[in-house]
Amino acid sequence: MKKTLTLSLALGALLAAGAAFAAEKAVDQKTFEENKTKKEWMSQGGEREEALHLAPNKENGKDVYEVCSACHLPEGWGQTDGTFPQLAGQHRTVIIKQLADIRDGHRDNPTMYPFALPSEIGGPQSIADVADYISGLKMNPENGVGPGTDLAHGKKLYEDNCVRCHGAQGEGDNDKFFPRIQGQHYEYLLRQYQWIKAGKRRNANPDMVEQIKNFTDKDTVDVLDYVSRLKPSADMIAPVGWKNPDFK
Ligand code: HEC
Ligand code: HEC
Repeated sequence: MKKTLTLSLALGALLAAGAAFAAEKAVDQKTFEENKTKKEWMSQGGEREEALHLAPNKENGKDVYEVCSACHLPEGWGQTDGTFPQLAGQHRTVIIKQLADIRDGHRDNPTMYPFALPSEIGGPQSIADVADYISGLKMNPENGVGPGTDLAHGKKLYEDNCVRCHGAQGEGDNDKFFPRIQGQHYEYLLRQYQWIKAGKRRNANPDMVEQIKNFTDKDTVDVLDYVSRLKPSADMIAPVGWKNPDFK
């Protein structure tokens, strides 16, 4: 059942393998295409509710995470260039929601989709387990940041438009499914933000879409540049060069 990806594969080879995998799974791809009409911030029913109420099994969470680690890295730190987001330290509810949304077609993620299906990693219990494991990982001390051109403007925009949901330090809110955005790679923040603004991320929060609809390109760069430099609390950050001993 479980996909065994060789972690030592070069990233390029890995992406090629991922694409080949996706091509093989013609049925999944068909479902994926059909899902493209789904647009809803909080879908009804489905795996999210179930997973939220299950007691997590950390040991199984680690086993499930093995397949994820091929892209998100064993440390959960993702890539500085934003190809793969950092997952480490993200709120449990946010991981559960995003994973359930990707699986049920409310959020497009063709690269990851075939690896995240129930047939690959299991049902709601596996979602609960892997979310618990990921949220406990310490975060990347050296995430990718923006160009630093106008941080004062970014700060002002952040305080006026984002604090009420993402918090003063970008810490988000576990109870409300608001993502932690502090310490995330700038390039990933930028891509998601643009997709949310354009309606391409179909599970986006409508109040956020409304809040940012008049942002210019400069506003966007400045505010996310500022966000990428917001630091998580010291106890959430791993030492530079830390390697996850669970995946030696
Ligand atoms: C083949 C590579 C690949 C694999 C394997 C993979 N992911 Fe991903 N994942 C991605 C990419 C790429 C994105 C960002 C997609 C985007 O830009 O919308 C992502 C995004 C996510 C997100 C959303 C993060 C956010 O900030 O909203 C979550 C949660 C996630 N992955 C969890 C997992 C879990 C759990 C697994 C293992 C079951 C996994 N991923 C396996 C490539 C992968
Ligand atoms: C009304 C609440 C609200 C406001 C205001 C808001 N956001 Fe969000 N934001 C959210 C929620 C909820 C999500 C996750 C949506 C989902 O489930 O897909 C999100 C997602 C994001 C993401 C993607 C994070 C990820 O891990 O994928 C970024 C980046 C972001 N917001 C930045 C901002 C910035 C910058 C501002 C201010 C200019 C802002 N948001 C204002 C609620 C808000």
